[in-house]
Amino acid sequence: SYIDKNRWEETVQAEPVSSSPPTEVAESIEEETMPRPSETKRMESSEKLIQLEALRAEVSVCRKCKMLCDTRTQTVFSDGTPHAELCFVGEAPGADEDATGLPFVGKAGQLLTKIIEACKLQRNEVYICNVLKCRPPNNRNPMPDEIAHCRPYLDRQLDLLQPKMMVALGKFAAAHLLGEKPDKVPITKLRGTIHDYRGIPFMITLHPAYLLRNPPAKRDVWEDMKEVMRRLGRPVE
Ligand code: URA
Repeated sequence: SYIDKNRWEETVQAEPVSSSPPTEVAESIEEETMPRPSETKRMESSEKLIQLEALRAEVSVCRKCKMLCDTRTQTVFSDGTPHAELCFVGEAPGADEDATGLPFVGKAGQLLTKIIEACKLQRNEVYICNVLKCRPPNNRNPMPDEIAHCRPYLDRQLDLLQPKMMVALGKFAAAHLLGEKPDKVPITKLRGTIHDYRGIPFMITLHPAYLLRNPPAKRDVWEDMKEVMRRLGRPVE
């Protein structure tokens, strides 16, 4: 609605971001009380969690990029739920993400949380990850060799996750999902368009950090998110 749209378009200050435990609690309660899905589905879903955790562990000890290993506090794998229908892919952790181990918790992350909430979703109902799992020093752009080293991790992560839809936040995420070089991705031209990544549709939109520098562009992202939500069968306007 108009009010939801304005809430994140006009406020940049956000409440502290909280991460996910309530879902897990809710899920375990649900398991006790709800009818059980088929045994196969349960196996598949627990297998997915196991494999994603194994991948997270593998990433946490990755040493492929010497400079990033030397400067990182920790790797940043994901936030949200592996059962999400909607997955956001960003660029790389910044200082706050490096410190907490969670993606999108700094200023840009707080704006992303507002965008998610404007879509009538909670942050713990979606999945959030990045192209790079380590923070590039001084928030510089990811280097081509770093992207190449990290590429298989995101591909495996998304193959396991199998969301219904994804949102590429900015040029580096769009380039990864399109299989293009970042300098071949004219993000302002491509935003608002839907593409296919291994059978999963994804929307290309602008990065929240760009929106912090160019607030009028929030309108474009809102249009893109409305289209995403419409395609998910959860229209917001
Ligand atoms: N920007 C990103 O692209 N990812 C984060 O996790 C934080 C900021």
